[in-house]
Amino acid sequence: MKNIVLFGFMGSGKSTVAKALSRKLNLPIMEMDKIIEQEEKKPINHIFSEHGEAYFRELEHKLIIRLCQQNNQIISTGGGVIKHEANVKLLEKEGITFSLIAKPETIYNRVKHSNHRPLLKTEDPLATIKELLASREEAYRTAHYVIETDHLTVEQVADKIYNIVNIRND
Ligand code: S3P
Repeated sequence: MKNIVLFGFMGSGKSTVAKALSRKLNLPIMEMDKIIEQEEKKPINHIFSEHGEAYFRELEHKLIIRLCQQNNQIISTGGGVIKHEANVKLLEKEGITFSLIAKPETIYNRVKHSNHRPLLKTEDPLATIKELLASREEAYRTAHYVIETDHLTVEQVADKIYNIVNIRND
């Protein structure tokens, strides 16, 4: 089966949906942030503060190239991979891409108690979310399938993806 790729902003539910989907499809999850943290032996926060965002983006890109050499996996991306068109092109070629979309307020409510996201450590995280989302929305919407998640549970999102994947049968 082709890779199943989850795009979406921080807090859009990629990791939790990936887990639900993995149970339904019996496929392994490649959680990009986690793999990068393991390989660099430090949390994303430290990678950003010690080496800068450009360095992190380079790691993301190299990891995507590696992941795309395999199939039969669920790739849960970091929210910023869509910033580079080359990443999107590659993932769309080697997988079926799904963007999980949510309103800024929904995202804010989901991430406000977590502190491992360097880009949201600002004075006004909701404003930052709105700005970043506005600049990325178009890229998220280029995915093969776009799912609005504001009023859906994790299981419902996973079911939608499961049904699409089954109908396509690739
Ligand atoms: C980022 C999203 C994060 C992580 C990093 C940058 C982004 O991943 O890759 O903090 O640019 O949106 P999650 O979407 O899993 O939080």
